[in-house]
Amino acid sequence: MKELTTERTQNLEQLISEITRYEQIVSQWDNNQKVVVERLKEAIETLHKEALTHLIKTVKKEAFPALREAVKDELVYGLLRYHNLIKPPTPPLEQRIEQALETVRPGLKSHHGDVELVAIKLPDTVEVKLVGTCSNCPASTLTMKQGIEQAIKTYCPEITKVISVNHTVTYTGEKIESPFATSQDSGWVALARIDEIPNGGILPLEIEGLKLILVRNNEIVKGYRNSCMHLAMPLDTGEVENGVLSCLHHGFKYRLETGECLTSPGIFLEAYPVKRRGEKVLVKVA
Ligand code: FES
Repeated sequence: MKELTTERTQNLEQLISEITRYEQIVSQWDNNQKVVVERLKEAIETLHKEALTHLIKTVKKEAFPALREAVKDELVYGLLRYHNLIKPPTPPLEQRIEQALETVRPGLKSHHGDVELVAIKLPDTVEVKLVGTCSNCPASTLTMKQGIEQAIKTYCPEITKVISVNHTVTYTGEKIESPFATSQDSGWVALARIDEIPNGGILPLEIEGLKLILVRNNEIVKGYRNSCMHLAMPLDTGEVENGVLSCLHHGFKYRLETGECLTSPGIFLEAYPVKRRGEKVLVKVA
């Protein structure tokens, strides 16, 4: 931005102090008089804006470098900004991505997670990495879609692809062999008797660090990871009504028959195969 010369600065200061003096006088007037002054000011400004718009269009077409040079002047820049005729300079892409990530960090940090910018692949792709709890959370795909990707696209409309370099969720528990397993059903483990699972309700279980819920509708039993797809909070504290489980934490709803999230269609609870052997309910966890 071009510095103003001392003489110009003095002239402008004088003008500003005159404007301030008149504003003070008008502020003493009654409301009807103030409205007239306000309308007059608006009309003059509209007239000026009209003329400036035409001037800019013409100069832009004929002599864009000259316009750019003129806008470097503090006063010209301020006037055009005042009339909304130029946009403020856009910060560099990396800075805008960081601004976007800052907006989602408080939410991630409240769940002991965070996000880092990994790479900018011009012209349209950004790679990010979820860290902390978010890095292995089953909800990370949803976290990406709902928060991070949306924030980046809002701050950086030129970015159309946001990729998480670690959003694939894998089960990391040890292989568990059931005492009831045969060679053909290796990996299955008997976790409960059917009558231990409340009909139309939930039975939470934990095996070797893996937290599951079993849900039952008469003779049909389903098994899911005990982790909400929103922010990975436990689901077993939620309420079940008409086969729909509502997460206690922020109200995400799931149809227990299929595991589908009704709040965010297309997302499913992480399901584990279940089978019956007599009264026993077996779950394949490995
Ligand atoms: S953790 Fe937010 S709704 Fe379940």
